[in-house]
Amino acid sequence: MIDQMDEIYAKLGRGPVPIDEMLTRESHDREVENIFKKVWLKVGHLHEIPNAGDYKVKQLPFANTSIILVRGRDNEVRAFHNICPHRGNKVVPETGHETFGKARGHVLTCRFHGWVFDTAGSVRQIPQAERFPAPLDTNCLGLLTVHCDRWNDYIFINLDRQPQQTLREFLGGIVSHFDGYPFGDADYSRKYSAVIKCNWKVGLYAFSEAYHVETIHANTLPGVAGAVTEQTEYKLYGPHSTSGYYVKESGSMKPTTVTGRLAEVLHRAPHHRPHPELLPAKVNPSRRNDFMFEFPVLFPNMVMHLCAGLAYPGMTHFDHVFWPIDENSCLWEGTNYYRSPQTPSEYLAITHTDALHRNAWLEDTGTMEDTHAAMMSGVLDRMYLMDDEVMVRASHHAINEAAKG
Ligand code: FES
Ligand SMILES: [Fe+2]
Repeated sequence: MIDQMDEIYAKLGRGPVPIDEMLTRESHDREVENIFKKVWLKVGHLHEIPNAGDYKVKQLPFANTSIILVRGRDNEVRAFHNICPHRGNKVVPETGHETFGKARGHVLTCRFHGWVFDTAGSVRQIPQAERFPAPLDTNCLGLLTVHCDRWNDYIFINLDRQPQQTLREFLGGIVSHFDGYPFGDADYSRKYSAVIKCNWKVGLYAFSEAYHVETIHANTLPGVAGAVTEQTEYKLYGPHSTSGYYVKESGSMKPTTVTGRLAEVLHRAPHHRPHPELLPAKVNPSRRNDFMFEFPVLFPNMVMHLCAGLAYPGMTHFDHVFWPIDENSCLWEGTNYYRSPQTPSEYLAITHTDALHRNAWLEDTGTMEDTHAAMMSGVLDRMYLMDDEVMVRASHHAINEAAKG
């Protein structure tokens, strides 16, 4: 772990950061081959497929593939390529970037010729099997496995046939830093997504610093421009980084009447109210009551925000993931995780929190296409980064190093 700014700058350098290669087709191709097809990627959450037989199909446009995540009879989540080993049809027809469903009878049937697979991936039935040239080795005709593992309630996959690291090795010090956070209490989520005309790194970097909060979010977070914010406690864990975000005088951020009333609803409910006592020791280590969230940037494409309900209407955590499509476009997914609402008022309050996030995220994503378009001019060949943008510096460094292969 590296946790002093001097140490961090000694590793990353402190000068302007070159960006002349950042948006090229060549760098995109290297990132896909040497990063996205090699490392662990978060693709889902346990509560999305809570019961045996539930599945989620997730498209991974950078690899021209989609992955079936399915919960087996043994309750384990497994991952398979969504391609039939007979002639290559999609086993599950897809309706978009993500498709959800239930394997009836705990089997998945390819609709082309009717091959049947169980939720552990084995082929269970091949129509007219006797007419295939013998011997037909059904042990080799199951769904094509993808490496799959979990960290807390997050589901990760690795497309490499032989991953160089386990998920735990890949996450490294992130595990001990965040384990203990009540991830598992959040059993309800809402997701926003959009295809954005920007390179995935432009999007990732925009969410990796809080320098922009007082300007971009001045309208959705009234009073934030007058509040004293502090981003601090920077740490590097290998290619991952993290920092804490505090809003001193958060009382100066006056909520609207509606937001205030709905926040009261959540603050009265034991499962939604602030729970700073549940934070692991390394998050908000001084137990400050102006803690807003800690936001780790998980290499390569995910920014998390872990809150404790302070300066927030209720317990929540949320994350942003950026998936490359090509060098000029990406898919952004922003997901809010909550404790399930127990009453209509809690449902309304959570929906309101969701809308506040949506408004803020529209402001965030609104800069990305402009940033990308302007950078495409090639006029700018470097970024000048301040201390609070050190996680941008860290991600850029880690991505460039890993992309070399
Ligand atoms: S392609 Fe799936 S059964 Fe033929
Ligand atoms: Fe933002």
